[in-house]
Amino acid sequence: MVNAMSKTVQIAIDGPAGAGKSTISKLLAKELGYVYIDTGAMYRAVGLKVLRCGYSSKDAEAAEQVLKTLDIDIRPSAGAQKVFLDGEDVSELIRTPEVSIAASDVSAIPAVRLAMVELQRNLAASRNVIMDGRDIGTYVLPNADIKIFLTASPEDRALRRYRELIEKNVKADYDEVLNDMLYRDKNDSTRAMAPLCAAPDADIIDTTGNALEKSVEILREHIETRLKNVL
Ligand code: DC
Repeated sequence: MVNAMSKTVQIAIDGPAGAGKSTISKLLAKELGYVYIDTGAMYRAVGLKVLRCGYSSKDAEAAEQVLKTLDIDIRPSAGAQKVFLDGEDVSELIRTPEVSIAASDVSAIPAVRLAMVELQRNLAASRNVIMDGRDIGTYVLPNADIKIFLTASPEDRALRRYRELIEKNVKADYDEVLNDMLYRDKNDSTRAMAPLCAAPDADIIDTTGNALEKSVEILREHIETRLKNVL
């Protein structure tokens, strides 16, 4: 929503895991001087806490219990974001394959979504943001000025994620990464509340086969063009 007084701009970038949303959003937010908000990190923090408490990530009652004492602190800045769980910096710890699956599981629990969406809307209020997630354009910020649905083939997304893990010296197996990706795609797009899907007014961009630089370039041009109509 563009406010005539403050002209704040909200850019929603949704899409499945591994399409390049966070890498590209982070970069473009930095260039634009916007605040980058990675909403997946919030579901990951909930997933990590549920696992640490020894619960199944599919256990809705346990997740509701965890929510009562959960303290998630998102510290955004231009082009970066730190995530604190109960005072501990978990920005790196939430990136493991186990936490990815747990995040997808807990994100299907309505009480978890309601709590995270409130946090997300508060973070986006009255500032220029690029927010990435699954339901930003459809549910969290339905009046976002620019909506993009970024996608790529599952094989392409799995290969990128596999390479990222190897680069970080995390032991990984491509087939396992692909299976995790397919599991999350199915989970995220078939849940009852705010499933992963493109908003009717979103621009769909497919990055299959693109090098990262090419996808960045496509999105940069796209956003620059759209911003001319918004500002
Ligand atoms: O973007 P990510 O891979 O870090 O997200 C982790 C999980 O969180 C993902 O599998 C689905 C869930 N998620 C969601 O349901 N809604 C969002 N807005 C962001 C993430």
